[in-house]
This record gives sequence, C-alpha cells and structure tokens, in this order.
Amino acid sequence: MTDAELTRSQAYEESETLGRNTSDNPSMGEIIAQRFSRRDLMRGALAVTAISATVSPLALTTAEKARAETDASAFRFKEPAAGVDERHHVAEGYDADILIRWGDPVLPGASAFDPKSQSAEAQAGQFGYNNDFLGYIPLPDAADPSAHGLLVVNHEYTNEELMFPGIPPQHTKDVRFKDMTKALVDIEMMAHGGSVIEVRKVDGKWQVVPDSKYARRITAETEMEITGPAAGAERMKTSYDAEGRKVRGMLNNCAGGITPWGTWLTCEENFNGYFWGKADGHPEEAALKRYGVPGNSYNWGQHYDRFDLAKEPNESNRFGWVVEIDPLDPTSVPKKRTAMGRFKHEGAANIVNKDGRFVVYQGDDERFDYVYKFVTEGRVDPADRAANMDLLDRGTLHVARYDADGTGEWLPLVFGEGPLTAANGFASQADVVIEARRAADLLGATKMDRPEDVEANPQTDKVYVILTNNTSRKTEQVDAANPRANNEFGHIIEMLPEGGDHAARKFTWEILVKCGDPSIADVGATFSSATSKDGWFGMPDNCAIDSEGRLWVSTDGMSEKSTGRADGLFAVDTEGAARGTSKLFFRCPAGAELCGPMPTPDLTTFFVAVQHPGDDGKDWSAFGRISTFDDPATRWPDFEDGMPPRPSIVAITKQGGGKIAG
Ligand code: FEO
Ligand code: CA
Ligand code: CA
Repeated sequence: MTDAELTRSQAYEESETLGRNTSDNPSMGEIIAQRFSRRDLMRGALAVTAISATVSPLALTTAEKARAETDASAFRFKEPAAGVDERHHVAEGYDADILIRWGDPVLPGASAFDPKSQSAEAQAGQFGYNNDFLGYIPLPDAADPSAHGLLVVNHEYTNEELMFPGIPPQHTKDVRFKDMTKALVDIEMMAHGGSVIEVRKVDGKWQVVPDSKYARRITAETEMEITGPAAGAERMKTSYDAEGRKVRGMLNNCAGGITPWGTWLTCEENFNGYFWGKADGHPEEAALKRYGVPGNSYNWGQHYDRFDLAKEPNESNRFGWVVEIDPLDPTSVPKKRTAMGRFKHEGAANIVNKDGRFVVYQGDDERFDYVYKFVTEGRVDPADRAANMDLLDRGTLHVARYDADGTGEWLPLVFGEGPLTAANGFASQADVVIEARRAADLLGATKMDRPEDVEANPQTDKVYVILTNNTSRKTEQVDAANPRANNEFGHIIEMLPEGGDHAARKFTWEILVKCGDPSIADVGATFSSATSKDGWFGMPDNCAIDSEGRLWVSTDGMSEKSTGRADGLFAVDTEGAARGTSKLFFRCPAGAELCGPMPTPDLTTFFVAVQHPGDDGKDWSAFGRISTFDDPATRWPDFEDGMPPRPSIVAITKQGGGKIAG
C-alpha cells in the first residue's frame, strides 16, 4: 500500500507498528527448546510454532470433544454471523442501541451537530471524535448503581477525511496538510480529549441525562497539573510553564481504567504524532527518536508553537503519561501522574492487591515494546476517598521479562539501582520516568508484539496481556512469549503472579490463545475446537473481565481484506474444558474498531465504543473508496439521516432484561 492510500487510522497503525526499540534485549531465538504452552501440549497441537505450523488443531479433534467444550462454556448466547457490512450486529435476543455519537451535545447549551458548518466552539461542547476507552462509574446516590452513573470516554484522535466535507487524508506525502487551515486544526483540538456524561436507564433503555451538572469536555487545551517525580524537572519546563508543573491538554488518549475510588485513568498513547519538525540536531535527539517524536501526523505545529519542536523543545516530554481525572468534580484539575512512566500507554486496568497496595497494569503499544506494572507505595483506604486521591504519585514502576521456562520477573525502574545511574545518563527518577523506554531497555525487558490492554481477573488473580500483532518480527526474533514470526493476528498471554500477589517480583505465564483463522494451518491459531467459524478473531486490542470473572476481548484491525470479517466483541472462555473457546457477541460496522467494552456491575448492560466507522472503507468491496463525510457517493444505504455512521457509544442489553450471556 502506498502512503497516499493510507487513511489516518492506517497511518496510526503504521506508526504503532514501526517499532523504535533498537536495544539488544533478547529475542531468545537462539533458545533451541521452544516452550510450548501447557495447553498446546494438552490439546496435542503439533508444533504450532512461529517457524512451522503444518497441522490445524481443528483437524486433530473429535466432534465429542468439541461438544464437551461447548457445554462447558461460561457464556450462553447465540452468535451472529461474522462478516462485513455498514451496520452493527449483536447476538440474537439482544438490543444494541446507540447512546451518543460524535457531535451530539455534552455540555448544557451545546450546538446541534451540523457537519457542514462545524466550528471549534461547537465541537468544544459536543461529544468528541472517536471514542476508545469508556468507563462506567455508578453515581454515589443512585438508587440502582447499575442504572444511573457517569460514562467517561476517551476521544483518542481525529480522522480529517471522515470529519470534514471534501477533505482527503492530509498526512500523506502528496497532500502534506495543504487543506488543514487553523480553523480545522482548532476543531481537531476540541475533538480530542474526553467526555464525561451522566447516563440513566429508563424503562430498560439508556439515555444521556441532558444538562447534567457532571457533564464535562476535556480537550487538547484543558489545563492539567503535572505530578510525581517528573514534576518540576528541567526537561519539563516550557515558555508557558517555567515551573514544569502544568500543561495544556491530553493527546491520543486510548484505553484507561477506573480506580476503586471512582477516578478515571486515561492514557496518552501516540502522542508523538502531534509534534512537528525534526529530531536531528535536537539536544534530546536520541530520546526523541526512541519515542518517534516528532511524528508529523498532524500539522498543529504550523499553527501553534508548542507543537513545533524547534520552537518549544521540551513540550513533547509533557505528553505520554497516564492522566487521573475526578469525574465527580467537573472543576477538578486533571493530573498527569508521572510516576507511572512515559510511553505509549494503552491502558491502566488495575487491582487492589491483597495487602491493600494498588497495582496498575500497562502496555506500551508499539512493536517490540514492553509490558509494565506500577505498584503504589501506599495502600487504598476504602473508607476515605480523599486519602486515595494522590496515591498514584508514589510507587514503583516495573517492566516485564518473560523467560522461556514459563516464569518471568518484574524489573523495577528505580533511579540508582542497576544500570539506571548517571553512568547511563540518568540523573534522577525524573529522567527514569521521562525515558522509561530506555530504562526498560537497559534492564533487559522482553520485546513484545504490541502490548495493548493488560487486565487482572480479581476472581483468579490471573492477568491477561493482549498482544495485537507484529508483522515485523522475524523468525530469528521469535521467543517463547512472542512465538510467531510475522505475527499478523496477535495472541493473548495469561500470567499468574507468585502467590496471587500482584506486587510480587516473580510470575508464571503461558499463552491462552494464538489468534487468527484456525482453519488455515499455517496461521497457527490455537482457539479451542469448539470455536465456530464466526467465533475466531485476530488483532485483539481491549479486554474486560466481567463481574462473573469472564473475559471479553474486542478487536482492532479486522476487515474484509484482512480477515473477511469486521471487528467486534468476543467472549473468551479461560477455565475448564472450554478454555480457549471464543464466540462473537457484537460486530462493528465496516471500517470501525471496537473499544472500551464495559459492563455495568450487575452485568445487565454492556457499553461498547465504536471508533471510526467508514474508515478504510475502500477495504470493503461494497464501499470501495476512502471515505469523505458528505460526498453523496459515500452515503451508506438506509440511514435515516443520510449520513454514514459516526463514532458512537452503544449500549447492549438483553431483550426482556437479565444478565448478558447468562
Ligand atoms: Fe489506541 Fe493501542 O490502540
Ligand atoms: Ca487499543
Ligand atoms: Ca486501537
């Protein structure tokens, strides 16, 4: 594919998959005895390795075994058919209702959506573009905590070719932002960030509560505080902020987490794309290059000096963090928690450890980058919300090393310990967190196949690491934890911390499933044989553990071209005879990825986030071209407003009520 043919989202995919880890950390390709997951061996899957996959696991099983696995599944629902079209589809007997879309009002008095006369002012009051993470926080005074709460939503990035009438993709070599005026850039900046909306279930259907006192828009301009070890550091100071303690905006917020004290952790991912210029000759050239700064994916730097590296050399150090926001107080100042490290944060799923310390699991989503966890110094006080509010400023960041024998170790990123000293250019913990990637390189972390969500199951203490894909991994770079060269479809690792202690240094691990089409032997997928032709997936991205301890996985990157099916939400058995069985529950419109799977506590609703529908429309044969919003030729059939589907939050409920998949 040529650069000119890439949509914005495909360009992001390219950026995430470029891989900027030039460290010598082990790929373990020379280890002769490849470790197979115990489950692979139990299933008798023969030599399903990266190097050769000659026998399909499906071919080895019997109908009786498949039936036993199906009966053992923890999920009860009838799958929709896999495929691609312009609409979403959900399992039989369920409703999937759009709750809010890009451009719908969020703040009181916000303008109605009009794509032909959009303005920054209107956008600042409306739901932003794209929506990745979503979290549900029951309101403290709700009569039914699963029927009245706040939804917090990340607005990760903008697709100019989908948002602005007549505007083709702008990042390509031939166009180079020639149509991106300051007015359009200002809309983009207001469409980034996040939204807080109040939602309520009335007569079984969810509604956005209009004019809520909690309603909030966070944008690329919202003032935030910088806290933790990097606050006040020289490398964090700019002409706007001589103290290195405040910053405007959060960028490319992908997934996140909700804390037990009801705050929202929102994660800056591909922040490098917003910076303009070149790294060559910059005083921090090597550090910038390790993060792919500047990415020149947007032209904000042509209109705003702070995004121009030559004019504001330190601004990029102030992005790439986890941001904590208190949605219950719309006047609260969001805080960038630098103790949790700076990288392309995917998410911040978390668990309260048995000893009360708070543990946040994090992926750094780029080819050959790492899996991290942060363990707080203090303990969560369930009876005192205020006492938890700055818990994330003190603690220890760790990075994972996966050993070939199925064990592993969390390596602490602590200034002064091991190689993290002045001899290697670290003068303080501020340097360690700002250059967390380089610190992790020096510690010998394992280079992974694009770590996305990492989520702990509180019922089993098992931790699921979603690895979306890595087509750059060569045969000689294959290792036990990343066992496929040219890993197109990703895999999921299951980790068990020693003694069920999430603060422990040691863990064991195995591969839960290698993804892709199990009917194609060379793919080497290891779904259970009970997985139907509709139920398998590739490119896993986000996940959720529901209140019954079941794993749900959403995908990003499937299409008619890549897999013959759209992205969606899949139920994945992890226990018993059905382990490794996947079932399709919800399927996106063409071009969309599915994010933010978020069940209510009582499991009667599943909220999901549909990002960038219509994107990569040319990969769908019925559409066949890069989308623009208003061209009649791109209008999708049978939509009541004559417009294609927009990024949206969808509420999934069972017809007649009851638990999802129960
Ligand atoms: Fe924004 Fe790693 O996905
Ligand atoms: Ca993601
Ligand atoms: Ca994604």
